[in-house]
Amino acid sequence: ERGEYRHYMQKEIFEQPRAVADTLEGRIGPHGILPNIFGIDADPILEKTRAIHIVACGTSYHAGMVAKYWIEQFARIPVVVEVASEYRYRDVVVPENTLFVAVSQSGETADTLAAMRESRRRGYLATFAICNVPESSVVRESDLRLMTRAGPEIGVASTKAFTTQLTAFALLALDLGRRRGLDGAKYLEHCKELQSLPRYIENALKIEPEILRIADHFINKQHALFLGRGAQFPVALEGSLKLKEISYIHAEAYPAGELKHGPLALVDENMPIVAVAPNGPLLDKLKSNLQEVRARGGELIVFADERAEMDDGTEHVAMVRVDGGGDLIAPAVFTIPLQLLAYHVAVQRGTDVDQPRNLAKSVTVE
Ligand code: M6R
Repeated sequence: ERGEYRHYMQKEIFEQPRAVADTLEGRIGPHGILPNIFGIDADPILEKTRAIHIVACGTSYHAGMVAKYWIEQFARIPVVVEVASEYRYRDVVVPENTLFVAVSQSGETADTLAAMRESRRRGYLATFAICNVPESSVVRESDLRLMTRAGPEIGVASTKAFTTQLTAFALLALDLGRRRGLDGAKYLEHCKELQSLPRYIENALKIEPEILRIADHFINKQHALFLGRGAQFPVALEGSLKLKEISYIHAEAYPAGELKHGPLALVDENMPIVAVAPNGPLLDKLKSNLQEVRARGGELIVFADERAEMDDGTEHVAMVRVDGGGDLIAPAVFTIPLQLLAYHVAVQRGTDVDQPRNLAKSVTVE
């Protein structure tokens, strides 16, 4: 039931604090991640893991892209992320002791399932599923699993599935980190930070009124560009996917550093640019990318961390402050404004938000 909400998508966006809290429930204790949360057979496999291949489609693929940054940072394990429809037909090189990870909300996506079956022939250490539907094929056929507990997702545009997948991946990344030399104090600090994610999401949801105003800028636009750096680049990709999927505005995402290698040529007053600017070592680099955009007359909409020092003056059309929390959880927190933006632009354009044209919730054909 939609209850007080106008669409399932809006309801599902607002369910995220709960969905993430449920996904964390019983998985972290005072000394860190609890034993056996990935299944009773997981221990020897995770000990042995020396490489990871993550395979998924759409939004789930974006979650895998964020996970690459975390796993490589915490556990120093090399990660390859690929869309399932490419992976399954490619002659993939599988190093010894590689873990295959399938990510899927539904657990029935044809390409993801076929990729997982194909992986059986490719000599992996084991298969690991991150999935929202316990009785699904992906879960039934995997060796290890971590369920997201988002509850049923009705809107075709995936929202709470994404943030709960990020939560599941953060647990995996930290667990692998602990096994592979992540400093004990840092590990515990990040576990705490992860537990605070529902609170930060709750807080980010409060910017909805500001988003409503910003959505005005997009109603008559045909194109939009999303920019991010580091682990926020996949968040920009996810924001652009949401916008194109439900508002039918052509949107693209770029790592901000790629701007001058091509897309800058598109920038003029008809091209709104959405930038995600968390506080961190890449902030100054992002700011100079944004100046390049501004100098070409592009309308800038910046979602900036509360602590990020930004020039609040003439540089942008809109700047919204978000408390992103620490480095680990910031990608999940900054996803919220982008979901809300896509939602409100679509509502104002009068599209069928929950059931966008040409799309199905579960893509069970190739
Ligand atoms: O159920 P899955 O996570 O395997 O679905 C994958 C994609 O089809 C899905 O994320 C799709 O891209 C969504 N419509 C995005 O909002």
